[in-house]
Amino acid sequence: MTAIRADGLVKTYGSVRALDYLSVEVEDGEFFGLLGPNGAGKTTFISILVGLARATDGIAEVFGHDVEDDYQRARDRIGLAPQEFNVDRFFPIHEVLEHKAGYHGIPPAEAERRADEALRTVGIYDKRETRFDWLSGGMKRRFLLARALVTDPDLLILDEPTAGVDVELRRELWELVQRLNDDGTTVLLTTHYIEEAERLCDRVAIMDSGRKVEVATPDELRARGEDTLVVTLANDTIGVPELDAPGVHGVTLDGRTLSVTTDDAGRVAPDVIRALDDAGHAIADLDVRRASLEDVFVGMTRTAEAEVSQ
Ligand SMILES: Nc1ncnc2c1ncn2[C@@H]1O[C@H](COP(=O)(O)OP(=O)(O)OP(=O)(O)O)[C@@H](O)[C@H]1O
Ligand SMILES: [Mg+2]
Repeated sequence: MTAIRADGLVKTYGSVRALDYLSVEVEDGEFFGLLGPNGAGKTTFISILVGLARATDGIAEVFGHDVEDDYQRARDRIGLAPQEFNVDRFFPIHEVLEHKAGYHGIPPAEAERRADEALRTVGIYDKRETRFDWLSGGMKRRFLLARALVTDPDLLILDEPTAGVDVELRRELWELVQRLNDDGTTVLLTTHYIEEAERLCDRVAIMDSGRKVEVATPDELRARGEDTLVVTLANDTIGVPELDAPGVHGVTLDGRTLSVTTDDAGRVAPDVIRALDDAGHAIADLDVRRASLEDVFVGMTRTAEAEVSQ
């Protein structure tokens, strides 16, 4: 079963093309990341999925329900924690949750029970009589997550849920979301914290200028970046040592630090050590800097920008 299917989605705002034929599929149960620079179209895509914006062209479905023609059934399956705060400010927060549950057809007694449960889950039950405006910034983020959870959604959409959130709360939020995903909830996440995406997501889509640049697992993406083997030589040397081992892409020398770029540091390390040894260089230290998703991401979105501006 496919949780999200988008095919040829276009969204224009006047002359701005926020989505430019975006096609992507997310499987049921997946933890899926949406990465891309500011303005890439991530929130626009989410807005279309939840019916806050209408696509100019193309198709979007949630669990097989068209997000326009079958809006209510698609929307009932989704819990959204939006990037921007859009909360009714005049009611106690537990009432906001009960209204939300009621809107999705949940009867009042059950709505109350779920509201309490959601507030407990995110750790702000003691604030249940408080208005949204009076919560701290981090509590506001927690509340948005509670509101997303109150309908017990099959698809949880989190748009920058950890923006401006302290390290402790980020860790807590991620444990919670990870648990929900383990229990079968599909998660669509946008974040600018690439290490979060790297750790949590089964697959990530990289977007730029309203288009999908790539979809892959974090491991697959990392494998496309270059590793660096950092060798500290024991003695000063004049000139960069000759290293023509297979798999070595480049060598630079800075003082006694030799940086060897390669597609696989583990594979070339023995050859590099042997070559240095043969040339009479003693090694004081050896370190491997693996390609991060961030390196690959920055490279890809730069390439995409260069292509667009051509
Ligand atoms: N309601 C709107 N009216 C006009 N332009 C809009 C509107 N919403 C989004 N845009 C434009 O569409 C493009 C994509 O914006 P979007 O919010 O989807 O980006 P994003 O990937 O979510 O970025 P960020 O990482 O900053 O949240 C931007 O150029 C933005 O200015
Ligand atoms: Mg956004």
